[in-house]
Amino acid sequence: MVKVVVCGAAGGIGQPLSLLLKQSDLITHLALYDIVNAPGVAADLSHINTLSRVTGHGKDSLAEALKDAHTVVIPAGVPRKPGMTRDDLFKVNASIVRDLAEGCAQYCPKAFILVISNPVNSTVPIVCEVLKKARVFDPRRIFGVTTLDVVRSSTFLHQIKPAFVPHANRITVVGGHSGATIVPLLSQITQKDVSLTPEEIKTLTHRIQFGGDEVVKAKDGAGSATLSMAYAGARFTTSLLEASVRGRKGLVESTYVHLGGNPGAEANIAATGLAYFAQDVELGPEGVAKVLALPKLSAEEQAQVKIAIGELKGNIAKGVSFIVDIP
Ligand code: NAD
Ligand code: LMR
Repeated sequence: MVKVVVCGAAGGIGQPLSLLLKQSDLITHLALYDIVNAPGVAADLSHINTLSRVTGHGKDSLAEALKDAHTVVIPAGVPRKPGMTRDDLFKVNASIVRDLAEGCAQYCPKAFILVISNPVNSTVPIVCEVLKKARVFDPRRIFGVTTLDVVRSSTFLHQIKPAFVPHANRITVVGGHSGATIVPLLSQITQKDVSLTPEEIKTLTHRIQFGGDEVVKAKDGAGSATLSMAYAGARFTTSLLEASVRGRKGLVESTYVHLGGNPGAEANIAATGLAYFAQDVELGPEGVAKVLALPKLSAEEQAQVKIAIGELKGNIAKGVSFIVDIP
């Protein structure tokens, strides 16, 4: 039994993400939870002839949706409009994510929780603090989904260096998921026929950091990235299921996690001084198998990580203090 729950399943991300997950033969039960229209989306998806069962759950059925969940994916909450930062979403999304995390603590305390709702830099600490309070916290099982930054990195690089095959090569992205906290490690590209000038690195890094804004601007008030995010969310969910259900070894994804208590995280705790950070993580049967130490960074990347750390400190403190009273 592998039950995957999508919370916010009727939304711009939730619907295409659920469609992609319906195609996975690793999932036996896809449970769709939303405060609106979940039964309708579930009825529609349930006609697809893959083997998983699909159920829809409205706002009074969170317990039923989460019960026996193996994995919970959370794209619930409001998206940005032009002129907004991800942090501006905190006042609405913090309580949505807190309530869903409380549900997970109560009804599926051992589930993997994949947080898509923004601001990820703060919503992941909210989830972790809720689970700590409920005494069911396992840092190996909570993930901030930053895969869209990884997907964008390889797409944008391919656009200027066609020799780089975007779907076959992964670029590590560290830090967090907003503007300057997104640090793509372009120095780590090993493909011999792909080289970048310092000017190209600067322009590409900026485009990756602000890729979300490109979509927000183009959608002109109608929301932010949904389809590319659904693709990225399905990719991360599938990687985690491949590692945890199928036992595939050596699967690595960049993701934002709680460092303390996670295997292998000591080096990045020492390097960043932070409680949460995105970096490459090897996935395994229990979620995080190993947090991979930051590789040797270029001078520019070192400077960018320093800026990211400064911003992340505030984002993390904001999330933590939403749950914990700090004297
Ligand atoms: P959307 O408004 O289209 O959909 C959100 C859905 O959440 C809606 O269906 C809504 O009914 C539902 N919802 C609201 N409150 C809920 C609750 N308490 N429980 C369950 N469902 C609830 O928004 P979207 O475009 O799908 O974006 C969702 C979130 O994902 C936003 O916060 C956005 O910023 C974020 N996002 C993150 C990334 C990333 O890379 N991590 C990328 C894109 C978007
Ligand atoms: C993204 O990177 O596309 C998302 O975080 C949505 C946004 O607000 O930009």
